[in-house]
Amino acid sequence: MPYKEFRLNGTVGKPLVRRGGREKVTGAAKFTAEWPIDGMLYAVPVISTIAKGRIVSIDTDAARKTPGVHLVLTPENAPSIKQISTMSPANNQTSLASSIYPVSGYDVYHAGQLIAAVVADRFETARDAALLVKVKYDPSKHITDIEEAPADERPKSLFGAPPVIEIGNAEKELKSSPISIDSEYTLAGNHHNPMEPHATTAHWTTTDGKPFLTVYDATQGLVAAKMTYAQIFGLKPEQVRVICQYVGGGFGSKTSWPHAILAIACAKIANAPVKLSVSRQHLYGAVGHRTPMRQRVSIGADRDGTIRSIIHSGVATTSQKDDYAEAFTMATRMMYRTIALRLDQKQCRVDTQSPTFMRAPAETPGMYALESAIDELAVALNMDPIELRIKNEPEQDLHQKKPFSSRLLVDCLKQGAEKFGWKERSMKPREKKDSPWLIGMGVAAATYPAFSSPTSARVTLNADGTARIDCCSQEIGTGTETVQTQLLADLLDIAPTRVTMELGDTDLPPGGLSGGSATTMSVGGAIVKAVDKLKSELSNLGQSGSKLATAKPDRIKFEKGRVVVEDEATSFEDLLKERNRTSVTGLGEFNAGRDAPTSNHSFGATFVEVAVDEELGLIRLRRILGQYACGTLLNANTARSQFIGGIIMGVGHALQEETRWDHRLGRITNDNIAEYHIPVNADIPHIEIGWNDTPDFQASPIGAKGIGEIGITGVAAAIANAIYNATGKRLRRLPMTAEQILA
Ligand code: MOS
Repeated sequence: MPYKEFRLNGTVGKPLVRRGGREKVTGAAKFTAEWPIDGMLYAVPVISTIAKGRIVSIDTDAARKTPGVHLVLTPENAPSIKQISTMSPANNQTSLASSIYPVSGYDVYHAGQLIAAVVADRFETARDAALLVKVKYDPSKHITDIEEAPADERPKSLFGAPPVIEIGNAEKELKSSPISIDSEYTLAGNHHNPMEPHATTAHWTTTDGKPFLTVYDATQGLVAAKMTYAQIFGLKPEQVRVICQYVGGGFGSKTSWPHAILAIACAKIANAPVKLSVSRQHLYGAVGHRTPMRQRVSIGADRDGTIRSIIHSGVATTSQKDDYAEAFTMATRMMYRTIALRLDQKQCRVDTQSPTFMRAPAETPGMYALESAIDELAVALNMDPIELRIKNEPEQDLHQKKPFSSRLLVDCLKQGAEKFGWKERSMKPREKKDSPWLIGMGVAAATYPAFSSPTSARVTLNADGTARIDCCSQEIGTGTETVQTQLLADLLDIAPTRVTMELGDTDLPPGGLSGGSATTMSVGGAIVKAVDKLKSELSNLGQSGSKLATAKPDRIKFEKGRVVVEDEATSFEDLLKERNRTSVTGLGEFNAGRDAPTSNHSFGATFVEVAVDEELGLIRLRRILGQYACGTLLNANTARSQFIGGIIMGVGHALQEETRWDHRLGRITNDNIAEYHIPVNADIPHIEIGWNDTPDFQASPIGAKGIGEIGITGVAAAIANAIYNATGKRLRRLPMTAEQILA
């Protein structure tokens, strides 16, 4: 066991009310675009209207002459912008997500590229003047359609793994399987559309004769953002501070994109603080998206359902300048037992902004295809799809050849089926009616890896029995402050109301990027280490001759505001007073390293009941149930909300969300949330959440694996499978819309 097991008997797991909730609903919470700075100017970008080519000229005269305009920034007058490598699993020193830099040259790589900016004393003035900037282009032929771009390339790596994986002879096993299926699935591109706009306010000052850059940035990774801006603008890390107290949704898109670089460049040249808040329309080119995809899954099995072969292949797009690869075959490496496996991912380059992580990248699109295919196989076998999954439960991770830290997928399927009333489902489609509706049930497995990132945290214990956590993590909306204060409260055996947490400022000990559902485990792991350090510090304060003075940290316990070693107990207050101290601190660092002895993932099962009106093509969700096993859950309230949020995003992915390009122009046509559809309350039925919270200390120093993203994985397949059960029609394109029912 890589981590020491411990048991907490306080508030961990309890549904404590989340911190910051009141501030958010009353408007007191300060989001990035809301930080006021004296003398602040506003930047509005000018974006390219062509998808590919060169800028011939930028006429800024009319914009510059507009009263209130301070600056029009173009490649002509831009400061030096150093090009650096983008973020990757091996490089956590940057959060840069796109190599398409603003104001750094005259090449156009996609429509909506930020090519200039107008800076004015009022936002409205800047927006107005930006329309007066006249850009002349020399366009060249572009491709934005995945169907047109040649898929003649393989990604360099899929989060560190090769794009082709072969175990046995999958083609041969498929051919010799008595039962087989072979299906293609098509997925539309998606944009994240967080409620809070992407925004950056940059402020250059001078400290000790040297430039100092303060950045208020809407980001999922403050420390990486700081390193990014330092490198790009030729500063030492200590010359940059990034602040972000709240994030109003990121979903993978709030890393560092051109708008942030543009804001910092504008502030430098304007010699004033500059705010750039990305409009909903500009978001579609300014930041990344989930790529469109085509996937093919073939599965062969014996008549009793034993899987012999799985082949999962396909293509995703990437941009001309970057190599982001949507790793949709990733989960297929380890989901089921099979004699032979072949995974093969290709990519094609299109003239768009770089695609990027979008909530549960890899697993969301991949599990849609795989779990649809498993359902198709169950139909071909005339077998219950839960039975089929249980029959092919693997002994270990097939690709990594390691045991699972914990799995519990079968438990989730069985428990979920029981609660959902799965036995009411008809094996045959079109059997259940509630006229004019056809009713169907579907199930799909969910999974997400248990990632972590290197994180430091400082714990301070005060003489009055209060405590504080300092960690430059970020509150991306999930309740980090709430759950981590619960954790520390239990570790110190004090009330959670006595614990506070400071985050969102790079002056604090460095935390990791909040992506990959990694934050809870990473910050928690650092806190556990910090408490060990704190115990050593307390031991140093022990009176000579006392058991405390010679005790190893392991033997020091906290009980009701006292430090206890065997039969000796001293209150925090007395201990600190004796030494004239008001507080003691411990700094902890957590780094899981890269070579876990086990394959670490969370698992779950998603159940859906749909109603379909075939005459009108309507698809209505009636009920959804998600049953999960993600290790310890620190807070029942925030956990439930996370799972529900994931499921709702899955509903959007399944039934509504689609970025539409006009391929003739290479431009996105639905660049607003009137036409880019996301679920509203009326689209969402009752959602029931259940879990098995057996701790997983094999995968996590606090027994908890991430829960931010698993909720979305499997939703699209469960809905597709339910639609098949209702209608007998297999929909193989996302989003699944009325046209496909009517076709
Ligand atoms: Mo998440 S897409 O890993 O921010």
